Amino acid sequence: MSSGFAAVLAGARIMPVLTVPDPATAAPLAEALAAGGARCAEVTLRTPGAEQALRTMAAHGGLIVGAGTVLTGEQVERAVAAGARFVVSPGLDEEVLAACREARVPAVPGIATATELMRALRAGLDTVKLFPAEAIGGPRTLRALAGPFPGARFVPTGGIDASRMDAYLADPAVVGVGGSWMATTAHLERGDYTEIRRLTAEAVARSTP
Ligand code: 3PG
Repeated sequence: MSSGFAAVLAGARIMPVLTVPDPATAAPLAEALAAGGARCAEVTLRTPGAEQALRTMAAHGGLIVGAGTVLTGEQVERAVAAGARFVVSPGLDEEVLAACREARVPAVPGIATATELMRALRAGLDTVKLFPAEAIGGPRTLRALAGPFPGARFVPTGGIDASRMDAYLADPAVVGVGGSWMATTAHLERGDYTEIRRLTAEAVARSTP
């Protein structure tokens, strides 16, 4: 069974990961990401206003918006009700996977070991988040993990920026890279949407073959 996540990336091989400090920034943020060529975005449920930010960004219409840092089944339900069209977790949790199946949204669990990858594949998924990608050894670790599992596809995330993305995208098992470097909390606090758009456009251009 496919996890359905390839359709979320919609040809662009990057996924901005957003921690939105103030939901009032969500609309101009969605605008800047879409103008930069992003096709999707992950809103992490790490701030009090994250659900509202997700709702606003989903309503923008120019991006496929998902929820990140999803830890419980209840969070899946709330995120999907707010407009999330995919669900990303830092790890693999059966309750989260079950809630995603129930809600019919693609789940992208985080994995960092072969054992976790086997659990994800057994759950019927084909695409996982490799997390935290840079800290666990980067593209070399990814290739070593991918070897025994030729059907597995990866979205490496964690510590990746413009200078590191190419090394991951060169691996045929990588469907896209995720990261916060295109739109950081600092950019959002400064209201620097020009820079968000520029960094997004740069990443999109580099990720397109
Ligand atoms: C995540 O939630 O996937 C990570 O926090 C994003 O990682 P980064 O901030 O190191 O890009």
